[in-house]
Amino acid sequence: MSAFCEERVLSVHHWTDRLFSFTTTRDASLRFSNGHFTMIGLKVNDKPLLRAYSIASANYEEHLEFFSIKVPDGPLTSRLQHIKSGDTIIVGRKPTGTLLIDYLLPGKRLYLLATGTGLAPYLSIVRDPETYEKFDEVIVVHGVREVAELAYRDLFIRELPEHEFLGELVRNKLRYYPTVTREAFEHQGRITDLIESGELFTNLGLHTLDPAVDRAMICGSPAMLRDLKAIFETRHFKEGSTTTPGDFVIERAFAEQ
Ligand code: A2P
Repeated sequence: MSAFCEERVLSVHHWTDRLFSFTTTRDASLRFSNGHFTMIGLKVNDKPLLRAYSIASANYEEHLEFFSIKVPDGPLTSRLQHIKSGDTIIVGRKPTGTLLIDYLLPGKRLYLLATGTGLAPYLSIVRDPETYEKFDEVIVVHGVREVAELAYRDLFIRELPEHEFLGELVRNKLRYYPTVTREAFEHQGRITDLIESGELFTNLGLHTLDPAVDRAMICGSPAMLRDLKAIFETRHFKEGSTTTPGDFVIERAFAEQ
C-alpha cells in the first residue's frame, strides 16, 4: 500500500488573506488520534510536495480538515491556497505527534495554548469527548495579530456549546480566551505576557499555574514555543513525550511554509 492517499477537496474557507481552512474526503483506513499531525501536499511536476499539518477534524469524523497559513513564496502554501473543491490533495497514512491527552499526566485543568494556525490540533482535541472525561476544565487560549485572524471563533462561541452530543460537556467545561496583539479587542496581549503578568488568570477567575493540577499543550511559532516552554519550566512543569507523560507537551505549528 502506498504511504499516501489521494483525497478530494470538499470545501475551502478563506478567513483572511493570510489564513484558510479546507476539508477533504478521508480514506476509510486512515487512523489517527486527536491532536496528531500528518504529511499533506500536492503533486508538483509529478513529485509529491509535502509538509506536516495538524489534523483539525476529530478522529470520528468522516472528512478531514486542515487549517493553513498562506505564504506568498512558500513552496507548498503558495500553491495550496488556490485549491478548490474537487481538486486532489495527498495525505500521509502515518499521522503522529506529541499533542495527545495521553501524553499528559492526570490533572484538573487543561490549558490549550496556541498562536496563529497552532490552533489546528486543538480543534480536534476539543471535539473529543475523552478530553472532558479527563479534565474538569479545558481552556483554549488563541493569540493572533488581528481580530480577523481569530479563525474558528464561531465554533467555540456557538457551534460547540450548541452541539447535539458535545454541547453539555462543552458548556460545563470549555472556556475560550481569544487575545489580539495588534488591534483593539476585549482581550489583548501575547499569551506569554498574559501568563507572566497574571492577567489571564485574573480574567478567568483562576489561580496561577500549578503543576499539581494544571496541564498544558503548546502549539505555535518556534519563538512562542521557546518562550512558553521556559515559562512552564520555571514553574516546575515537566515536559511530556510520546514515551513519558508529563505536565505539558509541545508541537510547532507546522504550516509556516
Ligand atoms: P505580536 O503581534 O506581538 O508579534 P504570527 O501571526 O506572527 O504567528 O503571530 C501570532 C501571534 O503570536 C501574534 O499575536 C504575535 O504577537 C504572537 N507572538 C509572536 N511571537 C510570540 C512569542 N514569542 N510568544 C508569544 N506570542 C508570540
